[in-house]
Parts: sequence; C-alpha cells; structure tokens
Amino acid sequence: MMKAIIFDLDGVIVSTDHYHYRAWKDIADREGVPFDENRNVLLRGVSREKSLEILLELAPRPYLAEEKAKLAEEKNGIYRRLLQELTPDDILPGVLKWIEHAKEKGLRTAIGSSSKNTDFILERIGLSETFDTVVTGADVTRSKPAPDIFLLAAERLGVEPGDCWVVEDAPAGIEAAKSAGMKTIGVGEYVKDVAPDRWSLTLGEAEL
Ligand code: G6P
Ligand code: MG
Repeated sequence: MMKAIIFDLDGVIVSTDHYHYRAWKDIADREGVPFDENRNVLLRGVSREKSLEILLELAPRPYLAEEKAKLAEEKNGIYRRLLQELTPDDILPGVLKWIEHAKEKGLRTAIGSSSKNTDFILERIGLSETFDTVVTGADVTRSKPAPDIFLLAAERLGVEPGDCWVVEDAPAGIEAAKSAGMKTIGVGEYVKDVAPDRWSLTLGEAEL
C-alpha cells in the first residue's frame, strides 16, 4: 500500500525556471557562452554544480575549479535576489488542493529537491510547515539522478521506498525515483517521454 508522497519543488510546487534562466543567462553572456531557453531545459533537476558543467560545455575555453566555484556562487547570488520576487501567489495552480487531498488519503508528505535554496523558497511561498519532512541537495553528496534524496526522505518518513510516490517534472528526477524503487507521477512536457508510472501536464490535473 502506498504510504507517502515525495514532491520535487522546482517545476512541481512552484515555477522557478525563469529565475534560474535569468541568473544563468547573466553568467553565460558575461563569459561569452551561448545559452538559451532550450539549453536551460537541460539544467532541470540537476545540481547547481552539474548545471554549470553543462553550461560550460559550450564555453570557448576551459575553466579552473576555483573559477567554477566562483561562477556557481555568483549565479546563486543573482538567483537569490530574483527569488525575493516569489510570493505564495506563485504556487502553481491546483497544488495546494492536491497536497490536502494526499494528506486526507493518509499519505505522509515530503519535499525531495536538489535545490540548496529549498528552505528559502518554501519560506517565500509560505509552505515551510506543510510537509512532514524536507530533504534537499544540502543533505546528500549525490544529487539527482542518484536516488539518495528520495531514499533519505523515505527513511525520515519511516516508510519503505516501494510505498512512496514521487512527483517530478525533470527526467533526472524520474530517473532518481525509479532507481530508488519508487512509483512516479510525471508532471509537464519534459517527462512525458521518460515513462513515469502516471503522467499529467500539471500537478493539479494528476490523479492520485
Ligand atoms: C532544482 C532545479 C535545478 C537546479 C537545482 C539546484 O532541481 O530544477 O534547475 O539546478 O534545483 O538548485 P540550487 O537552488 O541549489 O542552485
Ligand atoms: Mg523540478
């Protein structure tokens, strides 16, 4: 029997895509690296460090580790400033009702996000107290597509991985959930082709 549901944050609960994009674009333009919305899709669900690696694949020169660390930090500074614009109104349509519905069904709830800004984002949108546990990229060494974030969430909830749903909008997240042995609900156009157990365009429309 399913006992818990683990939600990804970015792209499932709230759309932060354009903020990530604006921040990475700033860095890319400055460094002379081609970067557009299509390349931005490749950064969905993967860690900040891995995102930078992907971005720099098209760079005209190689980068030292210290330079990369500095760029990642700068990107985060820009991103955090943009996140100040977030309010509870940015919670995606139908999401709050859907979480209530999951709770009424007796499911325990968690956030499982690669983002090290998770706590800040949850605070901005007023959902800090909503979930039974919150696991982020800061709690693990291996981020998605490794299963670690989701496995830690199940452990904290005291449930078996096989009794967990994962809601995800990114291929890296679906892969992580599958390797954790969990059932997947894919949300949005980017995961349609990676065979989640269920799929819908938005979380509000998903069936539980
Ligand atoms: C989420 C987003 C990714 C982002 C990652 C790390 O998974 O979908 O695009 O790279 O979080 O975010 P952070 O806030 O730690 O830079
Ligand atoms: Mg996501």
